[in-house]
Amino acid sequence: MLQALPSAWPSRKTEVARIEAVSPQSLQRAAELLKAGELVAFPTETVYGLGADAASPDAVARIFAAKGRPSNHPVIVHVRGKDDAARWAADLPPAAHVLMDRFWPGPLTLILPRAAGVPDAVTGGQDTVGIRCPSHPVAQALLQAFADAGGSGALAAPSANRFGRISPTTAQHVASEFGDRLPLVLDGGACQVGIESTILDLSRGKAVLLRPGHVGAAELQDVLGETIWLPDGCPAVLPVDARHEVSPDGQGVTPDTPRVSGALAAHYAPRTPMTLVPPGLLASQVQAALQGGAKVGVWSRETLPEHPGMLWRAAPDDAAVFAHMLYATLREFDAAGLDHIFVQEPPREADWAAVSDRLGRAVTGSGKA
Ligand code: TXA
Ligand code: MG
Repeated sequence: MLQALPSAWPSRKTEVARIEAVSPQSLQRAAELLKAGELVAFPTETVYGLGADAASPDAVARIFAAKGRPSNHPVIVHVRGKDDAARWAADLPPAAHVLMDRFWPGPLTLILPRAAGVPDAVTGGQDTVGIRCPSHPVAQALLQAFADAGGSGALAAPSANRFGRISPTTAQHVASEFGDRLPLVLDGGACQVGIESTILDLSRGKAVLLRPGHVGAAELQDVLGETIWLPDGCPAVLPVDARHEVSPDGQGVTPDTPRVSGALAAHYAPRTPMTLVPPGLLASQVQAALQGGAKVGVWSRETLPEHPGMLWRAAPDDAAVFAHMLYATLREFDAAGLDHIFVQEPPREADWAAVSDRLGRAVTGSGKA
């Protein structure tokens, strides 16, 4: 649990968007808004999405305006299932069938050749389209209500946050991002997974992992029976015969080291400067900051002695639990008027690949108000 915050520490004030519980009435209203080209925020099992009619370029343009997102960034099309996906992709290769049958509905996005008629606004002008079938019952109910109301039944939806900022995992997070500029946020409670879907590109004749997520590279490889690649051309999963190259001091590449290619672009970022700290260095770094008079947030598996300038939160040992809490914890730290956030480095194991990816990006973008 978070310690109670001293009342002198400011929190960010926000206008409140209209948050509605899910009911036949709110789903109907959401469907009507979508048909009218408006935006509706909705829960998925990963994070909340900012949804617009995927068939309407004007509606999709509103997403970009609301988020402040560059227009060449493609958005994912959310569909009810495999049958609907066939309308948005020019071709479903055998690998797509296998993965959809196994992982849909669920947190896996597939990049496929786009079908004719998919708006450029959705694809960012690329010849591919990202498609995902969310498992959250509210997302499914919304897609169905939108189809029943005569709409396309497909929602273009990025995460419902301002560009580059922390993705929202509750309806309240969404409201605090957009204030009263958003007509409706459907409330589905806290998102179970807590980080964005795994993205696998099947459009290049081989399977390329563009974003790690809850569905891991090893699991995808097992189901597909072929190598999953990183964008830099390395395999995403180290071969079994490389597994004896364990580094006993925990440094360097270990068999389970999360493989994430390239420099991490800034994303998912708190405004407060944030640092990842190896376990052995945490206590001394925090101590130094506190001695300098800084107010610090610390998220670690290691317990630190209490200090009035420190807001400490226990980090879970389990990667899925950590992912579930990740964005809510960063948001709480960010709202607490801290000078610095310290997060203990996650274990270098395959299970932690997606969490490591998101933490790295958050650090890169942190500290920019
Ligand atoms: O879990 C999720 O995927 C959430 C929920 C709302 O479904 N959505 C999400 O959307 O994370 P967004 O826009 O925040 O991130 C989508 C990512 C972007 O990095 C985008 O570049 C990539 O998907 N993407 C979408 N279409 C693509 C395409 N055709 N080719 C390559 N990347 C694509
Ligand atoms: Mg996003």
